Amino acid sequence: MNYKNILTEQASTTFVITINRPDKLNALNMGTIQEIGQAVSAAEKDNATRVIIITGSGNKAFVAGADISEFNSFSEAEGAGLARDGQLVFDAIENCTKPVIAAVNGFALGGGCELAMACHIRVASQNAKFGQPEVKLGLIPGYGGTQRLPNLIGRSKAIELLMTADMINADEALQRGLVNYVTTSEELLSKCHEIANKIAQQAPLAIAGIIRSVNAFYDNDVDGFKLEITEFGKCFTTEDFTEGTAAFLEKRKANFKGK
Ligand code: COA
Repeated sequence: MNYKNILTEQASTTFVITINRPDKLNALNMGTIQEIGQAVSAAEKDNATRVIIITGSGNKAFVAGADISEFNSFSEAEGAGLARDGQLVFDAIENCTKPVIAAVNGFALGGGCELAMACHIRVASQNAKFGQPEVKLGLIPGYGGTQRLPNLIGRSKAIELLMTADMINADEALQRGLVNYVTTSEELLSKCHEIANKIAQQAPLAIAGIIRSVNAFYDNDVDGFKLEITEFGKCFTTEDFTEGTAAFLEKRKANFKGK
């Protein structure tokens, strides 16, 4: 697939998406969001891919937010449409049945912080900065920031960050549980690949069941405990379960096929 705003690369079983508008600090215009959605969807369907990494081009920004130049004259309906379209893509990332890791290589502001939060795992470089500065523009976050930030760091600090537009650095993001790891800029992608490779050794259908079950915890319409029972039961129908248990009993490494 030919993309205008992103680069894609297949590295063994990991598919890497690089948002590539470094001159605009990788700000998310609508075209970029749609391309991210298309690339994630293609990788989710591709049997060769087990894990997806999303990062930003250059060493200054992951994503410095939604592209402000694109919506500064929008009407109420257009604004709501922008948020709705963005949320569709970010929800698809969160519900992707293959793990998505955000490699946060600098500013993750506004839509950038929201994109990172829609991913399943976040790794930040030491120069990363996180924030939801929309109030400075007379806005609130529209791509899920008011929902995912309290989930990840707790209501009190989330409300403070949303209201003050303050940024937090990578170490504070780690301390508050917003990111899983902090690395040097040089080691950021290798750390993400290390996590991806560990996950790629596990049974893909079980990984998908984990994503659906954990996400159910945050979905008011779904009973997560009941869904866990269903997902647990489904595992017993898979070839990977037969292979995983046989490999354990035969004291060998399992070779999972995602079937
Ligand atoms: N939308 C559109 N363009 C953006 C952008 C955004 N969210 N963030 C940065 N850019 C552009 C700048 O306009 C500038 O473009 P130019 O060179 O054509 O003028 C370029 O990216 C570099 O940004 P600049 O502001 O010069 O870099 P800086 O190092 O001085 O500041 C930031 C970095 C991230 C602090 C600053 O760019 C910023 O505050 N960005 C907006 C963050 C924001 O409000 N995000 C939420 C949007 S809803």
